[in-house]
Amino acid sequence: MKPWQSFRPDEFAGRVALVTGGASRMGRETARAFAAHGADVVLADVDAAALDRAAAEMPKALPVVLDVSEPDSVAAAFERIDAAYGRLDHLAHCAAVIAATRFLEADAAHWRRLLDVNLVGTFLVTQQALRRMLDAGTGTIVLVASDAGFRGGGGLIADAPYAAGKAGVLSIVKSVAREFAGRGVRINGLAPGPSDTPLHTGISAELKERIAAGLPMRRMGDPGDMAGAILFLSSAAASFVYGATLDVDGGAMLR
Ligand SMILES: NC(=O)c1ccc[n+]([C@@H]2O[C@H](COP(=O)([O-])OP(=O)(O)OC[C@H]3O[C@@H](n4cnc5c(N)ncnc54)[C@H](O)[C@@H]3O)[C@@H](O)[C@H]2O)c1
Repeated sequence: MKPWQSFRPDEFAGRVALVTGGASRMGRETARAFAAHGADVVLADVDAAALDRAAAEMPKALPVVLDVSEPDSVAAAFERIDAAYGRLDHLAHCAAVIAATRFLEADAAHWRRLLDVNLVGTFLVTQQALRRMLDAGTGTIVLVASDAGFRGGGGLIADAPYAAGKAGVLSIVKSVAREFAGRGVRINGLAPGPSDTPLHTGISAELKERIAAGLPMRRMGDPGDMAGAILFLSSAAASFVYGATLDVDGGAMLR
């Protein structure tokens, strides 16, 4: 049994859930988890071919191609959701990019690209979702950050701009939670630890083993671990969890 299979079968019945990065393993698993509990699911991703494959697995899901870093693309995606469903109840924002970065050699364009997708993209998607949820007076938002947002980069994976963007995501969670308190929308963050997904395509098996060995739980995370936590944060079980960021990292942030 997967962690997310412990919710009531109708936990999200009649609701619409948007999963960005929906073509990724983590996004797909999150979408599957929402759908298995009754939600209508929108899969949104910049990778059209991967999105087609994900949508083929979930025939009831609405696939939407979007680039989270482009305001017009984000606006158009939300208009499609409005037209298809006329409501949005849950956002799970998983889309992101990572790139190994040599700090001394990196240029501004490289930093801007990563921050555009990971930070500005988070702002754009959150803003569109929030407008609709505030109008409805209800909704949940889960922004996927990273343990790197707390720790900083520069470790086994040299990823300073990725970590800086994810630290910004943690901050967006708090800013939105404070600014829109009492308006019916719950926003929280999720901080995954190292997980075995295509995000780490360029990483050798040996480095993955070293990463796993360095974690208290002695394994990397699985998309199912993240989907379970996203479902929890989106569910009534988390009704008093607000402006928080949940570590789902096998103990990486143990302190
Ligand atoms: N895998 C890990 O070890 C790990 C650790 C901590 C945090 N995270 C976070 O978890 C989330 C999911 O990561 P994953 O491991 O599934 O990664 P992934 O690379 O498999 O998935 C990311 C998805 O985002 C999409 N994407 C990239 N740029 C986009 C854009 N501009 N617009 C729309 N979609 C875009 C990609 O096409 C991909 O489908 C990310 O936010 C990531 O930063 C992952």
